[in-house]
Amino acid sequence: MNVHAPALAEAQRFDQQTSPFADDVLDGLSQHPKRLSPKYFYDAAGSELFEQITLLPEYYPTRTELSILHDRGGAISAILPKGAALVEFGAGATTKVRLLLNQCALGAYVPVDISGDFLKAQADALRQDLPDLAIHPVAADFTAPFALPEAVAGMPKVGFFPGSTLGNFEPHEACSFLRSAREILGHGAQMVIGVDLEKDERVLYDAYNDKAGVTARFNLNVLHRINRELGGNFDLSAFTHRAIYNRDRHRIEMHLIGRKAQTVRVLGRSFSFRAGESIHTESSYKYSLERFAALARGSGWTPRATWTDAAGMFSVHALVASD
Ligand code: AVJ
Repeated sequence: MNVHAPALAEAQRFDQQTSPFADDVLDGLSQHPKRLSPKYFYDAAGSELFEQITLLPEYYPTRTELSILHDRGGAISAILPKGAALVEFGAGATTKVRLLLNQCALGAYVPVDISGDFLKAQADALRQDLPDLAIHPVAADFTAPFALPEAVAGMPKVGFFPGSTLGNFEPHEACSFLRSAREILGHGAQMVIGVDLEKDERVLYDAYNDKAGVTARFNLNVLHRINRELGGNFDLSAFTHRAIYNRDRHRIEMHLIGRKAQTVRVLGRSFSFRAGESIHTESSYKYSLERFAALARGSGWTPRATWTDAAGMFSVHALVASD
């Protein structure tokens, strides 16, 4: 049996139809500097690697946000309207939302995610544990407008956007996202959002350059995905992970650096790399409390409350839709 046959069949399938992944990869690799969107990290292997990252000693955001949601659950719950529909933008692991669902008197849970299969599995697991909760999954790209399920039409709305996923957006994209969330959730809505904070650069550096090399594998996995799904021929051993803190732009940048001059083919197109050339694969913006509040105000929301951990590593914000 030709072990490459499935990969080839897959590549041809993508060749014949235009997939957003194929379009974005071809476009990103044609740019100067080359870039790839971080949203493509999360295939099955990438999602698993990300789960491993969240457990690393150096990677503080996940456990810090969980501790805030856990410790401040009472205060968060006191602010939210009773019987609200909680709309989660991009539903990953349910650990965080479970903290809210357990502590707040919510009427329904609306997880929104591009991956319908993943959504269904998560919703089934939640139904087991919370049989009385109405769950209405929506399979949609949450960065674009989508309709809320009819069943939650009469309920107050609360958006939930944990994990500092907002940090992956360029500032203008973060503004558009918040405006769009405001439109989707409607008049009188609230929003609970997790935002990573600026801090000592060494701490930031270590969080994205872990000793065990999991972040490096996570970063390189996107090349593996391109090879598999788009018939690419990236030599993974010829690229190396690099994460740096860009102080002027308040962001961690992840790059894949080519170790040598090389040419890579993807979907029948060739891309040349100089030795040391980078593919910029992710920006993870870090906010001060003031800069986030200003972003929220400029995007249709009024800050209502902010919680941080004692060390000021991470923040959770409650916002109210401005009129
Ligand atoms: C899921 C976007 C919040 O930026 O920290 C983790 C992704 N990248 N390690 C982050 C990520 C490298 C993560 N976010």
